[in-house]
This record gives sequence, C-alpha cells and structure tokens, in this order.
Amino acid sequence: MTQPVSEPVVYLNGQFVPDSQANISVRTHSFLYGTAVFEGIKAYWVPERETMFVFRAEEHYRRLLQSCRILRLTCPIGLRRMVELSAEIVARNGCRQDTYLRPIVYKVDRRIGPSLVAPQTEDDFLLFSAPMSGYLDTEKGLHVCVSSWRRLDDNMIPARAKVNGAYVNTALAKSDATLAGFDDAIVLSDDGHVSEGSAMNLFVVRDGRLITPSVSSNILEGITRATVIELAQKELGLAVEARPVDRTELYTADELFLCGTATEVAPVTRVDHRAIADGSVGPITRAVRQLYAQVVRAGLPDYLHWLTPATAPVLTQQE
Ligand SMILES: Cc1ncc(COP(=O)(O)O)c(C=O)c1O
Repeated sequence: MTQPVSEPVVYLNGQFVPDSQANISVRTHSFLYGTAVFEGIKAYWVPERETMFVFRAEEHYRRLLQSCRILRLTCPIGLRRMVELSAEIVARNGCRQDTYLRPIVYKVDRRIGPSLVAPQTEDDFLLFSAPMSGYLDTEKGLHVCVSSWRRLDDNMIPARAKVNGAYVNTALAKSDATLAGFDDAIVLSDDGHVSEGSAMNLFVVRDGRLITPSVSSNILEGITRATVIELAQKELGLAVEARPVDRTELYTADELFLCGTATEVAPVTRVDHRAIADGSVGPITRAVRQLYAQVVRAGLPDYLHWLTPATAPVLTQQE
C-alpha cells in the first residue's frame, strides 16, 4: 500500500493532477445551472488485509450512467475504467482510512443558457477523494423531523438521478433540521407519502418485516438500500415490502432506520419528538447494521464480489 501523500490528487480532464491544480472555470455550465450528476462511493480500510476496498463501485457507476442518460450527459469513459480509476485514486492518495469518493459527470461548456443540447456541448468526468468516517453519529440513535420541504417529483428533477442541482432540496431540509436541533430530516413527496431521508433511504420495521418506500416514491434508488434488502432477506430471513409509506407509519414503527453510503445504517429512535417504540435501538436495526459493517470490511466471504481492492497506481511518465 502506498504511503499517505502530502497533497492528494484529483482526476480531472483525463489525468491525475495535484488537488491545488484541480480548478474549473467560473463560467462552467454545471456551476451556473447545476447540470451535473454525481455519485458518493465509500472505500473502507481493512487493517487485517492492509488494504482499502471500494464498496459496490460497479453498481454506483451503473447508476451514474443512468443519471447521465436522464440528463443527456455523455460520460467520456466507460464503467470499467471508472471502477479502475476509483481504486487507483485511493491507492495514489495513500488512503489508509475510510474514504469517500466523489465522481462527477458535468457539463463543461462555458456558456450562458441552461439547455443541455446546445449545438456545441461537452461533458467530462472528474473524481476526487476525501477522508470520511462518521457522517452522522449513529451509535445512540438519531432524532429526526419530518421536513416541511417536499422531495422533488420525478417530473420536476428526477430523484432517481443524482443531479447536483437537486441537492439544494437536500441542503434546505438538512440545514433547517439541524438548526431546529434535529440530527436529520425525513422528506415527504408532494402527495404526502414518505420519500426518504435528506440524503439516505429509509426502512420501517413492523411486526418483524422491513417496509421501505417503493422506487416510485421519488427516492434515489440507493445502493445501500439494495444491500440492506439483500442482507435482510438472505442473512436474516426477513420479508421486505417496498410500497408507499404514510407519515404516521413512522410514529407507530417498531423500529426505524436510515441508510446510505455515507450514513451506512443509522438507527432513528425519535421522530418529531415521538419515541419510536421504547426509544432504544431495536434488534433488527442492530442486526442489519452489524451485517452491513461486516460486509463493507470484507468480513463475509459471500459478499467479497462487492469489494474492489485499491491497487497500487501504474505511474506513467507524464503523471
Ligand atoms: C437523496 C439520497 N437518497 C438516498 C441515498 C442513499 O443512496 P446510496 O445508498 O446509494 O448512497 C443518497 C445518498 O447518496 C441520497 O443522496
């Protein structure tokens, strides 16, 4: 494993450059109009193997390409190359702690006017890494609110695509929640059904079953959500139901948790000042959380195919 380097590198314009030189123009279309799509991927340090592993990189890049299709963005490189670059940036940056990867496909045109299909238009791919552990303090159980901000509808800015500009909605919900003293927020769709957390999916536990808002509830189709569903079914033998979820089902849940790449599996023990069941972290949430923690750190042999080891960089002369 490469030793930590003083200045991290960023992949920009088709090459790795020092972070301080990874700059883009103030006129960039995606800065002016939010016309970019992104992913949040996590790489985990596994001390017993002295290796960093990128978790479900392929699934994240498949979703990135799906976001590109929705926005008519053209990603200049393919899925395999993006997975390779993710492992490579972790290795080049000498990461030996949990690390967040942020790939972005963005409209690079320097042009006024929001259209995605100007006669001359160009899109590019960039990738950077940042150390990340404990996005939320999930040990104790979170106190969240139902936000007064509604999630964007599929016919507004599709939640299915991870569009940079759409995260203003997340920022409003999250900021108002934390200013009001909550740890995070749950957002409803415009029809009043539960959509998801500010930047995470949501599961209700009721009578030993997992219930989660369906993919037509204006959610991001989370990789962690899919992981939780698979682990709950295969490892815990639990039934999982994806369907519209009412706000009051949150208040009457036996257990409630949020999940996402940064958040991992985060128990919620209070919503809008109401305790969930007896207000402590429930056994199913605990079990799912523990399984997820094992899987991302190469602890369960059946799921090693979800992990890409961060390989040593192949340095070219130019780089
Ligand atoms: C709005 C939103 N929903 C859900 C998620 C969870 O998705 P994933 O598990 O793929 O990180 C995220 C995280 O990126 C998000 O931003």
